[in-house]
Amino acid sequence: MPRSKVYVSSAGFTKIGDQWGKSLLDLAVEAARGALKGTSKVKPQQIFVGNMFSAMGARQEHLGALLASALGLAGVPSVKVESACSSGGSAFNIAYSLVRSGVLDSALVVGVEKMRDLEPEEVSLALAMAESAEYTQFVGASFAALNGLLARYYMEQLDVSREDLSAIPVIDHANAVMAGHAQFRKAITSDVVSRSGMVADPLRLFDCAPVGDGAAAVLLVNDKTASRSKRKMAEVLGGRIVTNEFSFYEREDMLDFNATREAFVGAMAQAGLSPQKLSFAEIHDAFSVVGALALEAMGFSRRGCGSKDAKEGKYSEGSDLPINTFGGLKARGHPVGATGVYQVAEAYLQLTDQAGKNQVEDADFGITHSIGGVDTTSVVHVFGKAS
Ligand code: COA
Repeated sequence: MPRSKVYVSSAGFTKIGDQWGKSLLDLAVEAARGALKGTSKVKPQQIFVGNMFSAMGARQEHLGALLASALGLAGVPSVKVESACSSGGSAFNIAYSLVRSGVLDSALVVGVEKMRDLEPEEVSLALAMAESAEYTQFVGASFAALNGLLARYYMEQLDVSREDLSAIPVIDHANAVMAGHAQFRKAITSDVVSRSGMVADPLRLFDCAPVGDGAAAVLLVNDKTASRSKRKMAEVLGGRIVTNEFSFYEREDMLDFNATREAFVGAMAQAGLSPQKLSFAEIHDAFSVVGALALEAMGFSRRGCGSKDAKEGKYSEGSDLPINTFGGLKARGHPVGATGVYQVAEAYLQLTDQAGKNQVEDADFGITHSIGGVDTTSVVHVFGKAS
């Protein structure tokens, strides 16, 4: 069956952080208008909104129709997609699949989350909804606590030190300094991470992604529609969503992120690309341990070496495979349902040479990787320069 080529033709996003003066809808509209600016010849045929907990964070559901109407696009089909913290990545994957298969010529993908209007305990409950209500929430385990258990096990089983674990947050913070949309634009040292306040032993404040408000949007077009756009574009070469055994503590090997591995292998096979060709990787590092396990699952580092390799400089700016080029979840920020779309927007900027001071030299190919739960849903996309 013939497939269409798919391109990201534009992107828009808000700054991440405290957005007290803007509603969930304000943020989504701002990002969407940014992506639609100057594209009057391309009307999106469908809108996909990635969001995790708007009902709790903003007392608002029915985001699809709400956003379409606010954009003056009432009549256009528009739906919300939810898969916990990977909601934005999943929304993008569905849009990509429909454009690739020829069902749609164009689609707008918007990721949005409003987290800061909630009290801290409400945020904790909202995030815990990514886990089983009957088993995990029932015993009062927060999402940070679960990742703390995972981190302790990782350190003990694979001989990973506190200093090793700090390496990925250090890279993220360094990369965010020049990123205008990032929540934390301050470089840190490994000591800052290891001396910061305890959140869920052994995870400390600087091991954890922050809580923030934000929205990002991208416009997808096929070859036919692309010819009407004069914009610089990035091609979407492959994408895959994979789910895992739901509760990570019931998996045969908790330290093997096999949903991430399968999503990566599947997306790369679809792209027909070998990992050596990649110029950068935007990975899901909601907690330092998660970033390390993701790098290992995708085969960039050996088992137990994700953080150690990061400490040795393997993933820093200027290396063969820089990660999280605008700060990743830790420093750019992680407005959960929006994050997967921020990653795509950042990959688009890199591959169209619009990344400014964060530009990766000679960026030809890159990936985005987004997780819901503890590697429970994993979404990987592969991008290249448009030829
Ligand atoms: N990294 C660095 N600094 C952080 C931070 C983080 N993750 N989170 C908050 N801060 C800073 C704030 O800027 C603030 O600094 P200031 O006093 O100089 O203004 C201070 O710490 C307190 O901020 P506050 O918002 O009160 O933090 P908190 O203690 O309520 O929350 C966490 C901190 C780590 C518990 C919270 O960010 C969290 O739950 N993170 C995990 C989110 C998560 O699980 N996401 C989903 C993963 S898939």
